Amino acid sequence: MSVLTGAGISTDSGIPDFRGPQGVWTKNPSAAANASIDRYLADPGIRRDSWRARLDHPAWQARPNAAHLALVDLERAGLLRALITQNIDELHQRAGSAPELVIELHGTLHRAECVSCDLITPMPEVLARVTAGEEDPPCPRCGGIQKSNTISFGQALKPDVLDAALTAARSCELFLAVGTSLTVHPAAGLCGEALDAGAKLVIMNAEPTPYDPFADRVINEPIGAALPGLVKELIDAAR
Ligand SMILES: NC(=O)c1ccc[n+]([C@@H]2O[C@H](COP(=O)([O-])OP(=O)(O)OC[C@H]3O[C@@H](n4cnc5c(N)ncnc54)[C@H](O)[C@@H]3O)[C@@H](O)[C@H]2O)c1
Ligand SMILES: [Zn+2]
Repeated sequence: MSVLTGAGISTDSGIPDFRGPQGVWTKNPSAAANASIDRYLADPGIRRDSWRARLDHPAWQARPNAAHLALVDLERAGLLRALITQNIDELHQRAGSAPELVIELHGTLHRAECVSCDLITPMPEVLARVTAGEEDPPCPRCGGIQKSNTISFGQALKPDVLDAALTAARSCELFLAVGTSLTVHPAAGLCGEALDAGAKLVIMNAEPTPYDPFADRVINEPIGAALPGLVKELIDAAR
């Protein structure tokens, strides 16, 4: 099976989602507008605020929760083909998921990138410069604007990463979407790709999603409790 995870799998680890009841954008809708690449490149003030937000991001304190660990059990039982995630927190890898199975559709917060020369550096190195007083630390190689190594609104996904996710969605018998509102494309469209290829779709999310009508099973329960139960059920069924 292939699994797609979203921000909802990490809320129990203390990282708020965007669109849930306690979501960053639910509480502050203007934050969404400032998340676009055009605004980021055009406005030094937005870049300064973004570096502060990266410095204070809850991901630096977060630990994997029971749901991340359950997906490691699924992998060790030989049942996981790919773990596609929209998250940028690396909590799947921290939990012990094999890095080669994790497909980070939206990149990672743990690295920084230069938008001019594509230099990638560890995020802690850049954040140390912010702490030392640089409000918008330029690229150490070319002086260009840096950002996190994540996909901003208005940016296309990396073609090789999207291809790997499409292949995983089209070549599984079961596609499980966990903790995602399934409103961000192309990530959400992976559910349709899996269905078109004949897979069953299972959705686990507190709130309704646009793909619920097409799912074989919809589980509207808290992920931290419900995912370990579902994984146990799947492992038992495969024995
Ligand atoms: N942890 C992270 O890395 C993180 C956090 C916030 C946003 N993001 C980024 O923002 C985008 C958000 O899209 P998305 O679809 O992943 O998230 P989303 O915010 O659009 O949706 C999250 C969904 O999870 C549900 N949910 C939250 N906690 C839950 C719980 N404990 N049990 C059951 N359901 C729960 C919410 O009801 C909501 O429908 C992604 O593209 C991602 O890159 C990442
Ligand atoms: Zn550069």
